[in-house]
Amino acid sequence: MNADLENHIIKSADKFKELCTKTKIIRCITHLDADGLCAGAIVANILRNLGSDFHLSIVKQLNNENIEDFSKEKYDFYIFSDLGSGQLEAIKNNLLSKGKYVAVLDHHEIKAKIEHENLIHVNPHIFGIDGSNNISGSGVCYLLSRHIIKDDLSHLAITGALGDMQEKDGFSGLNEEILKNAISKGKIKVEKGLNVFGRVSRPIHKALEYCTEPEIPGVTGDESGTIQFLSEVGIDIKNKNNDFRRLCDLNGDEMQRVINAIIIKRAGSNYEKPHKDIVSNIYISDDENENLADLREFATVLNACGRSEYPAVAMMLCMGDKEKGLKIAKGLSNSYRKKIMESIKLLKRNKEKVIKTEKTFYIVGKDDIDEKLIGTICSISLNSDNLCDKKIIVGFANTSANTIKISTRTKEQNINLKRIISDITAKLGGEGGGHSVAAGGEIPKGKEEEFINMFENQIKEIYNDC
Ligand code: C5P
Ligand code: C5P
Ligand code: ZN
Repeated sequence: MNADLENHIIKSADKFKELCTKTKIIRCITHLDADGLCAGAIVANILRNLGSDFHLSIVKQLNNENIEDFSKEKYDFYIFSDLGSGQLEAIKNNLLSKGKYVAVLDHHEIKAKIEHENLIHVNPHIFGIDGSNNISGSGVCYLLSRHIIKDDLSHLAITGALGDMQEKDGFSGLNEEILKNAISKGKIKVEKGLNVFGRVSRPIHKALEYCTEPEIPGVTGDESGTIQFLSEVGIDIKNKNNDFRRLCDLNGDEMQRVINAIIIKRAGSNYEKPHKDIVSNIYISDDENENLADLREFATVLNACGRSEYPAVAMMLCMGDKEKGLKIAKGLSNSYRKKIMESIKLLKRNKEKVIKTEKTFYIVGKDDIDEKLIGTICSISLNSDNLCDKKIIVGFANTSANTIKISTRTKEQNINLKRIISDITAKLGGEGGGHSVAAGGEIPKGKEEEFINMFENQIKEIYNDC
């Protein structure tokens, strides 16, 4: 690890520990997605180990309003995880200036660099390390935790990185270091397998039917098509005891037949790369519960809990009564996948929901796509040759606060979405932030068209300069 970053983490850990032990009740605030939930769980684990009491809240986003609300609470020490670096100015004005102590443990780009004696700020960007691909918010919390507690929480750091889509046929940078360490300690093992959600948690036919990444023509979203597909491939969907079999129950030969048949189906549908993303790394932790041991699956379940407004269930899965948590999470996870599937069907059916320009694919979700799902829908669409043929994607959805939520994703190296989104949302009276490859924000209602014009101008400028 970069020596300056390591020194900074050690110093921050000392300060953090001191503040934790001298504060009566600590206020923790984390992000609602899988990474944020894992980050929150790592922080909660540290505090539990230190014997500190705390109050944890999960938020969709940090902004001026909720920071102001938090500042009115009677706490002396606030810990923000997987968020905060984009809101340092508001943190300074509302919390630090009132004599409160703050720790920001984040991997998002830093908006306004602020140093303050009461602020602990751990973020790889401070040392020029890009947090969008190399480390997650939970990874940052994990690096700090290693200097404070004995428990090794690397499985949460890797789950957060998987949830933030930082795995691209393996990990890089700090994530890679964390993974190597976890493998050498026997905490995590890596295997190759079919990249389908539900490998251990669902019957085969349900896992394939609900599989959007990779999309399987004639199978995804089609129950009878799935049953027929499995029968053609010669896979029994039930075992001798009449129980449904799962993908993890298939033997090597059966698995290979399924993989080959998926590739053939995709090849027949003119996918650019029919092999793409079909086989991927599977990360397995030493958790004795197999539903929690597959970390990619675990990240998806956490996302479902967070985005369905049941973050407490996510916390149970990370550090509480796991069996009880899993029972509730199963239902949440199923309805989350169904909602995603319905949004994707809607995009395919209703052409007016999509605007395509030379470089960009816009999804105008309005009230038809949930604001908490639009980011996930953008990620899925960008990775689906069948849905989106552009390398930049922008999604809009109406929010409960009567504004428009924006989510953007890109595969273009020369585009920094965080900068573009921060700039345009500010000009339109909203706010935004994130990473170069994935950014989001909010703007006032009715401003989609203005946003699109401004976004198009910025993209054109970038390509004209190239
Ligand atoms: O706020 P946070 O960083 O946790 O949000 C991450 C989101 O950005 C994830 O939901 C993921 O979809 C997206 N992302 C991505 N590719 C990356 C990093 C993040 O799609 N390299
Ligand atoms: O919400 P979505 O998944 O699209 O967010 C993509 C990235 O943008 C995340 O890292 C998120 O934390 C960030 N974001 C932000 N400010 C917002 C909305 C999203 O920094 N208002
Ligand atoms: Zn994150």
